[in-house]
Order: sequence, then C-alpha cells, then structure tokens
Amino acid sequence: MKLIAGILLLVVSAYAVTAQTDQAISIQTQKNELVYTVDKDQKVNQVYLGERLGNNAELFNAKGMQHEMYIPFGTSDLFESAIRTTHNDGNPSIELKFVSSEAKKLDEYITETIIRMKDPQYPFEVNMHFKAYAREDVIEQWTEISHQEKLPITLAIFASSMLHFDAKSYWLTQFHADWAKEMRMEESQLTSGIKVIDSKLGTRADVYQTPFFMLALNKPADENTGEVLAGTLAWTGNFKFSFELDNNNSLRVISGINPYASEYKLAPGKIFTTPTFVFTYSNSGKETTSQNLQKWARKYALLDGDKPRMTLLNNWETTFFDFNEQKLTGMIADTKKLGVDLFLLDDGWFANKYPRNNDKSSLGDWEPNKTKLPNGVGILVKEAEKQGVKFGIWIEPEMVNPKSELYEKHPDWIIKLPNRPENYSRNQLVLDLPNPKVQDFVFGVLDNLMTENPGIAYMKWDCNRPMTSSYSPYLKDNQSAIYIEYTQAWYKILDRVRAKYPHLPIMLCSGGGGRIDYRGLSYFTEFWASDNTDPLERVFIQWGYSYYMPAIATCNHITSWGKQSIKFRTDVAMMGKMGYDIQIAHLNDKELKFSQDAVVNYKRISDVVWYGNMFRLVSPYEGNRAVAMYVNYAKSKAILFSYNLNSRFREAFNTVKLRGLDESKKYKIEEINLFPDTKSKFPFQGKTFSGDYLMKVGLSVSGSEALTSSVFEITEM
Ligand code: DGJ
Repeated sequence: MKLIAGILLLVVSAYAVTAQTDQAISIQTQKNELVYTVDKDQKVNQVYLGERLGNNAELFNAKGMQHEMYIPFGTSDLFESAIRTTHNDGNPSIELKFVSSEAKKLDEYITETIIRMKDPQYPFEVNMHFKAYAREDVIEQWTEISHQEKLPITLAIFASSMLHFDAKSYWLTQFHADWAKEMRMEESQLTSGIKVIDSKLGTRADVYQTPFFMLALNKPADENTGEVLAGTLAWTGNFKFSFELDNNNSLRVISGINPYASEYKLAPGKIFTTPTFVFTYSNSGKETTSQNLQKWARKYALLDGDKPRMTLLNNWETTFFDFNEQKLTGMIADTKKLGVDLFLLDDGWFANKYPRNNDKSSLGDWEPNKTKLPNGVGILVKEAEKQGVKFGIWIEPEMVNPKSELYEKHPDWIIKLPNRPENYSRNQLVLDLPNPKVQDFVFGVLDNLMTENPGIAYMKWDCNRPMTSSYSPYLKDNQSAIYIEYTQAWYKILDRVRAKYPHLPIMLCSGGGGRIDYRGLSYFTEFWASDNTDPLERVFIQWGYSYYMPAIATCNHITSWGKQSIKFRTDVAMMGKMGYDIQIAHLNDKELKFSQDAVVNYKRISDVVWYGNMFRLVSPYEGNRAVAMYVNYAKSKAILFSYNLNSRFREAFNTVKLRGLDESKKYKIEEINLFPDTKSKFPFQGKTFSGDYLMKVGLSVSGSEALTSSVFEITEM
C-alpha cells in the first residue's frame, strides 16, 4: 500500500500514481486531511475528512466512510449529482473512473493535487484539483471538465466540489441578506431532504443569500468547541450550495456555480474550469475557521492584503447628488481637518445631456457634469494635493439608465429581452458585458478617468442592480451562457484594470454589500459592507463578515445613521477599515476633537486590527452586548472592542476572559477613544496584568448603559 500522505510534504515535490486500488490520496494541511481511495471498480471515494491522522493507512482496515468523490448523474446513484450531461449519442449518463493522480508542491506551503478521471465509454474527462494551504489549513477545490466528442455537449450540472459527512446531526449556519440587512446569521439543524442556498441574481448576486456557510457536526457550532467546516465559493455570480441528508443520515454538500438557467455548451477540446470552493475545517469551533479564512484571504485572496489602507471622508450620506465644486472643495479641506487620508467623491459628478441629479438618469455618460464641476475632476485632484490629502471617485460602469446618451447610442449593448418591456431596478439596466465592445467601454470608464487625472488615488466600483429579463444580444442563440459569461467578462475587464493599475485601491460596492466573494476581492482592496451604518445594526453585520473577511477589507463608515453618540459610531467603525461620511461642520468642538483623536488612535492601532488574529468573545446574537478583540501575531499588542447594545435597566454583565495573549507576558490595559473631558470608569485603567490573569480571570469590560462602547489598547510591558 502506498501513501502519498506525509511523505509528500517532507520529501517529494511531485508524485504521480496511476490506476490501482487501495491507495490513499491525501490532501493535507498542517492540521487537517481529506483522504480519497480508489476502489476495485476504479471509483474514487472520499474516506475521511477531519483532523490530520497519524497514519491514514489505518483507514483501509476500518471500512468506514466510503462515498464517491464526485457523483455523476445517470447510473446507480439516487440523490443529487455533481455533474450531468448528455453525450453526442443521446446517452444521458456519466461514469467517472480513476486514471491517475499527481501532487506537486507549488511552494513550501502549498500543494496542488490533481485526481484525473474519465468515462470508460466516452472521451469525457474530469480533473479534480485541490490546492492545500498548509499554514492556513485552507483547501481550494475545483474541477476541469473536457471531452473529445464530435459535437459540443451541454453541461447541465457542473459542481466545483462534493463533500461527504457521516455525523449524528448537522447544523448549518447561513448568512442571508437584503439591502441594508447584510450577513444575517442563522443556524438551523438540517433535516432529511435537501436544503439549498443559492443565487439567481446574476450581477448583484449576494443581495439575498450570501455565498458563505458553516456546517457544524453533531452539535451547533460555537467559538471554541466542536467540528465545523466553513465554506464559500470564489465566484462573483450565481452560486449554489446544496445540503442533502439521505436515508442513511449521510450528508452530501455540493458547491458550485448555480446551474439554474445556465446549461453550458462545451466544445470538443475546450476545458470548462469551475470556480474554486474554498473551505477550512476545525475541531475546535468557529474561532479557528474564521482565523484560518481571514489569514488566507489576506494572503491569497484580497488584493494587497498585507498593505496598509487609507482612511477617508466620503460625501454620499451628506450630499447625495447635491454638490458643486465649492462644496467639494470645502469637504476636501474637512478631510484634512479631520486627519484622514483621502476624500472620496461619490455618485452624481457626471453626465451633461441628462445630468446626474438623482438616480433616474445618466449612468453611462461618464463626463464630468459642467454645472457642478465646471473645471472637471482635475481641479478636485489638485485641490486635494494642495491640502495634502488624496482624491478618490465613484463609478458604476456596468450600468446604464434609459435616460442617457449611451442608451441612445448603443441600444444593442444592453441586457434586455426582445419583444418584452424593459425591466428596471433603481431605474437602470445592465450592460451586455459578454460583448467585447462593452468590455472596452467599461474598462475605458476607469481608464479614461485615470488617464485624464493620474492623481486619482482611489476608486469605488458600484453595482446597484441584479440581472432580470436576462438576454444578451451578443450571445445570440447561446442565452443560457449569460450568467457565466457575464461574470467571466467582468473578470476579464478587471484583469485589464489590474494589468494597468496593479495597486490602485478600489472598493468593491454593490448597493451595500451585494457582491462579496473571494474571487471578486482578488481585484479589490476592500469592500463596502452595507449601506446600513447604524452602529447597532453594524455590530451584527460586521460580526457576520468576520467569519470570512479580514477587518482590513471591511469598510466601516461613521455616518449619521442611528441616533447613537459619535463615540459609539466611531468605536464600531474602528473594528474594520474606518472611514467617515458625515458633515464635519456639524460636529461640535468636542465631537471634532474626539474624531481627530480617534483618527490618530486608529492609525496607531490599525495594524493590529488589520493584520492580527480576531477573537469573538461575546456574541451580539446571544445577549445585549458584543465583545471582540484583535491580537497581533507576536502577542505583544491587542485591541479589545466592547459594545453595549440594547441593554436595559442597567443590565449587569459578567467579566470576559480575553483570548490569544501570551500567558507569561505582562500587559498594560488602557482605555482609548475617550470623549474629551471624560475619564475611564474602569478600575483596571492603566494597570498591568499577566496574560495568564487576563485569559483565566478576565476583565469587566462592559459598562451598564445601552448603546455605549469602550475600546482598550492592551500592550505588552
Ligand atoms: C450604493 C452604495 O452602496 C452607496 O454607498 C452609494 O455609493 C450609492 N450607491 C450611490 O448611488
């Protein structure tokens, strides 16, 4: 018996095996392992997924779990399939038999394993790929599908991954959403049958369901105990996860592009590559899965995940469409006054024939509006330079309003059905991205702005509607490709953007957080989490994102939503990439001083929040407060955020045990972000404690008033 496991990581850099039974193909990370074997019929079976084994050869003696890795439709299986097509001769079934497997080390920490399979009767192949990131305990899985039949075949189902579980019970955490209600976490026990989480929305794909889930085995997931798998699809379009619990209490989880209305025609000799399913497993709860994914995302998904971000002042919430050069010049001066790095000009700066004074017109006409900006955008860039701050600008280049010159000039560039009325959302239509001319146009929106104003230092890329009446004039008789081709075209445009502007910071926005996934984020430095900036709601929204997204990518702005104090709003926004969207002139002296100091504090502590490990200590879903902390890898510095939510009648809260510190180190605790002329009420202010004490006894970090907050800087002495 041959084992690829273990040996592979240590000695060989590439290892290939060909068809024979009883061999283990193990995809390993430092802590975890996913094991497949090939049976006598040359089928590849999943035999294990969990904590790394000392000796995976023992799996052969037990005859435990045995589930085919990627079950095709049409022969003996009675449940949901991973792949389905009809061959040229009309045979509607696929069989997949092992051909070979190989593993190669891409670097010291990443191993790619490929398992090749083919249909014994047809020239039809599936290669299953795994990339295992040892240090982060993350695995990416995807498939490549190809054939050599005479005519194209149509793929009806084409999953990225199928994983199997045999547990007593299964608990699924999903994150559903809507505009201003992003990442609502909900956990439920899976019962017999199929639970599907999917999107059919095309462009703004995640606005109702997000492509993130956690699956806990045997009991509901908690932060520090229990087996949990956290998964997501790296795809900025329609996705589908199905969880099917069968008659034997086995669960199969199928992840991939949503095949709904997306039958995909594949020509002979061409390869269809699915997006990657990204997952991590832990037997010690959700804290580990989210730390793994945050770490992985910073290193391998998010653009420039290890580089600093700019703080900013945005004008959307304060002006909406109502501004001019003079007002903006004032706001640029406010940017300087506040101490943040950049002024971000939002929607409303463009179009002349139909000026953009509300959301009813103008998308598509990306010329500065001559009434609002008689001297163009350039004067604002210069003004920012004069003030010693940077300038950024909003675009929504994939969209068009019927009331626009673009619509008049290019009615054939728009996604809409023939012979049916146009269907609007926010009064707009989606451009036909599969059309290369449209791709040039969309790229040109950003490129022209940058060429004309090389001083632009930041962009916000918005996308305010899902796709309906989905018909691409360009795709002609291949309409079922529209959702996939749209997303691929978007990536093509962004590839061009990144080839020319590799490090330009761009915020990914979609009417709030309607379009967030790891593949999309590979082109962006950050994302707009939600238009809902009421800090009470925001605690929940940010909590939800934290299971997958690093704080450095999560844009949190201080606005006038909610009635809470500026301190509460600021403390909540600090738990991510902080920004402002308020009238600086409306702040009183103390509020302004508080905000200026907060910006200074944020700059001092942000590296811990951005690059540290996050620990969720008290969940807002379980009581009237939330407490979370970030600890740098050296365990020399930590920042703890404590928020009281709807606490009533001077509710008393117990002490909170800190996490992630070094028990042998001594730490000084300092409450920061105090409002001018107030003093910390905490008896431990300024005192020093051992990590041992802080983690075993803890601190009483919550006050008693509703909607108040405290931030603590914890520094090794
Ligand atoms: C939706 C975004 O989420 C907002 O932040 C703002 O940019 C508007 N679009 C502008 O139309």
